Amino acid sequence: MPNLSLLHDCTLHQLSETTRIDLFDCGDDDLNEFFRIDALPHQKALIGKSYYFTIDEGNNPTPICAFTVSNDALRVVDLPNARKKKAAKNIPGAKRHYPSYPAVKIGRLGVHENYKGNGIGWQLMTFIKGWFADAENKTGCRFVVVDAYNNGVSIGYYERNEFKFLFHTIESELAYVNKAREKKKTTLDTRIMYFDLLPLKSSSNQPYD
Ligand SMILES: CC(C)(COP(=O)(O)OP(=O)(O)OC[C@H]1O[C@@H](n2cnc3c(N)ncnc32)[C@H](O)[C@@H]1OP(=O)(O)O)[C@@H](O)C(=O)NCCC(=O)NCCS
Repeated sequence: MPNLSLLHDCTLHQLSETTRIDLFDCGDDDLNEFFRIDALPHQKALIGKSYYFTIDEGNNPTPICAFTVSNDALRVVDLPNARKKKAAKNIPGAKRHYPSYPAVKIGRLGVHENYKGNGIGWQLMTFIKGWFADAENKTGCRFVVVDAYNNGVSIGYYERNEFKFLFHTIESELAYVNKAREKKKTTLDTRIMYFDLLPLKSSSNQPYD
């Protein structure tokens, strides 16, 4: 497949009644069902907004990747110590003691089966990070967070895109997720991972302020 550029060769859409993605197939049944059926009601209930890119060959634009984002927050007490210090360093004076930092959560994300392994996932993540670090973003947003499927492909994808584990050990993450649960989990289906947008913003040439 020739190098496909999400920004130059594809079109971004927000999911709506008239722009559905019934044919989207990222190889994961739960995710496919979410994007095809559940994403729109979630959007109407203001739980998450879904977007997708199409490649516009011929009369039928083909959806090649899709994602859902929601507002979220990262509690300072949950951050690893080193990150706690780094995060507070850039906040001036007495106001540095926030209980949590603003974040955006990637609720769902997938690349169409036919387009995997070509850097589309990487381009998509670069796009999402840029969207929320951008000066045009309407609210402050310091972190991108995700509950990554606890399997090699998904964790490897987020690690390649420079996400870190919020909890270094399975035990500490299990203790955290079990805190509010009556029926305790013994294994993790997902791992909480995060990406700090500040270094990205500082290293960019874009005039942010
Ligand atoms: C995880 C997922 C989003 C990755 O999407 P992707 O488009 O294949 O991601 P990338 O192309 O950026 O990276 C995947 C692989 O392609 C390789 N690659 C990247 N650019 C490439 C290029 N131009 N040419 C060839 N290979 C390339 C990467 O090195 C990587 O290889 P590796 O797996 O051997 O390390 C996709 O597999 C998917 O949708 N999975 C199902 C749903 C899921 O797990 N979602 C995430 C959890 S919510």
